Amino acid sequence: MDKHLIRGGNPLYGEVKISGAKNSVLPILAACLLTDQNVRLSNIPHLNDVTTTMELLGQMGVKLTVQEDLSIEINAKEVNNFYAPYKLVRTMRASILVLGPLVTKYGQARVSLPGGCAIGHRPVDFHVLGLRKMGADIDVKNGYIDASVKGRLKGAELSFDVVSVTGTENLMMAAVLAEGTTVIKNAAREPEVCDLANFLNSLGAQISGFGTSTIVIDGVDALSGGSYRVLPDRVETGTYLVAAAMTGGKITAKNTSPDLLTVVLEKLEEAGANISFGKDWITLDMRKERPKAVNFTTEPYPGFPTDMQAQFLALNTIASGKGEITETIFENRFMHAQELRRMGANIKLSGNKAYSVGAPHLTGAQVMATDLRASASLVLAGLVARGQTLVDRIYHIDRGYECIEEKLAQLGADIKRIPDASSI
Ligand code: EPZ
Repeated sequence: MDKHLIRGGNPLYGEVKISGAKNSVLPILAACLLTDQNVRLSNIPHLNDVTTTMELLGQMGVKLTVQEDLSIEINAKEVNNFYAPYKLVRTMRASILVLGPLVTKYGQARVSLPGGCAIGHRPVDFHVLGLRKMGADIDVKNGYIDASVKGRLKGAELSFDVVSVTGTENLMMAAVLAEGTTVIKNAAREPEVCDLANFLNSLGAQISGFGTSTIVIDGVDALSGGSYRVLPDRVETGTYLVAAAMTGGKITAKNTSPDLLTVVLEKLEEAGANISFGKDWITLDMRKERPKAVNFTTEPYPGFPTDMQAQFLALNTIASGKGEITETIFENRFMHAQELRRMGANIKLSGNKAYSVGAPHLTGAQVMATDLRASASLVLAGLVARGQTLVDRIYHIDRGYECIEEKLAQLGADIKRIPDASSI
């Protein structure tokens, strides 16, 4: 398994180009199942999760061609099987996003349950309940969801007890070709949900209210083709900005969108960073200062994003003062804490809270990534730790960060990927 070997102590300086959003491109790729016409997607990040989704669609009969400019040409006219096997779904939970499109377009789907995940139980009951309310017959047994509907799904009034991003996305896609109107209450408001809605509307769907907690979808008979540029990745952006803040440097994130991460930028200013931005760039200048610890509670958008929690806990471990972080979205999203402690961090966990006392420095160690954002936080800690840090199982990172060691190295970090390093 590949590892990252990092020698800490270099402040980051320079420019980093932000890639397309992982959590936008995954539902948008699944949504291509809804039309028989050609679709062209650009600003696609080169990530393992994207490759996995392309493999999943390909084995259904979808034609996918990567162009020289790295955009993807997609055609789902010849889809001939409606099956998402466990071997693909277990590596990427977002495979559940093919369920809604398959049932509404083809009247059938056999999709593996995603199974366990490091950060929490993460059931998909809302996805199933919503489709049942729209008229699908669904059996959940032997680890699979078997769904079918005679004729078309029917529009319905759906409401989520808990805000669910992919739950909202799955049911919004199912509603696009359903008969009549669907209203989704307590819908997710994430920018990636809006990106999916904008993409679907560009193909002729009739979706309104996205970005608020009530989305209305008027079903149409068919969608056209088109081309679409995927949103920039707000979590990748935030991760590099936190890296600059932790190392006391100054970087500019380009090809991004500041209004996607307002709350994160406010938190970085609270930590003492000087932030400036324009339409598609953000500059963070830490002026060699040590960051101040911050407190926050993760919430659905527009609240503080859970996907930035691990990165800010890493910042708090070397910041001045005490920090308190409350994680309300997932029940087990502090696994990076014990790895950070091995680097000398002073973190106490109690229930869904992480209390930190900033240490003057961390010490490099051999640590293990457990999930995507936890691994990012270990890399950030390695950038500031004294000595060498070896981060194992970085296949987690490869799922959500395009060329992370190249991007960090060109900002001045001492980081390299090693195929199989011995312990340090
Ligand atoms: C999406 O996951 C993101 N993934 C996650 O990003 C992100 O952390 C999460 O939303 C929250 O923002 C993608 O978009 C591909 P949820 P999702 O359904 O949709 C519970 C990353 O690092 N729930 O919004 O799976 C669930 O257990 C990843 O990029 C149910 O109980 O998350 C959780 O506690 C990690 N039943 C809460 O809702 C359901 O049917 C929110 O989960 C669905 C969800």
